[in-house]
Amino acid sequence: MENIIELTEITYDQKKLQNWYLEVKKHTVDKGLFVYQTQQSSAPPHYKWNGRRLNNDILKESSYPNEYAECDEIIELYGLFNFKERPSCALVIYEPNFIFDPHKDDGRTSYIAFPIFPDDGGVGIDFYSTEVLSEDGKIIWLDKHDDKYSIGHHKYSTKHPTLINVEKPHGCRNDNRNRVYLQIDVYEKFNSIKQQIKDGIFFT
Ligand SMILES: [Fe+2]
Repeated sequence: MENIIELTEITYDQKKLQNWYLEVKKHTVDKGLFVYQTQQSSAPPHYKWNGRRLNNDILKESSYPNEYAECDEIIELYGLFNFKERPSCALVIYEPNFIFDPHKDDGRTSYIAFPIFPDDGGVGIDFYSTEVLSEDGKIIWLDKHDDKYSIGHHKYSTKHPTLINVEKPHGCRNDNRNRVYLQIDVYEKFNSIKQQIKDGIFFT
């Protein structure tokens, strides 16, 4: 699959991130922050984005460290990469049976995925042919997944993080479990990161 790179040079500790997530949850759920939902800005108004992107600043009103990036677990993850500037990260949570229609991301070009829950990493990511795009390259959202546009599915590793190209149409069809991932946002082009990996300069 050309749109993903499993970063086999490095590993992460899923159990540690599970404990971290449960700790974060404890510090946010009481304040109602954990029910925060936001409409994706690129989505048409009728589309209900039933996922949750808990950005770095979601903790600001809690007594826990103000930012994920101040947590030891996250400092450790950032430490794996030679980032020029430290990028943002977020917890991305999909409720059971949530279907994220085919789309391209707004802003970031890629992300680095660290599956947290469920233990097996849950459902993977679907990629679609660019036929789902309009001529000007703007996205056409399919009402639901359509096999005729599918170009592949990738199941995530729970040992190695994975780099995902989100400038290509992709989506996700969750099963009946909550799916929790940590994502580090990447703004450099996917192919540029690919080259840095090849040159041996992407990791510390
Ligand atoms: Fe996306």
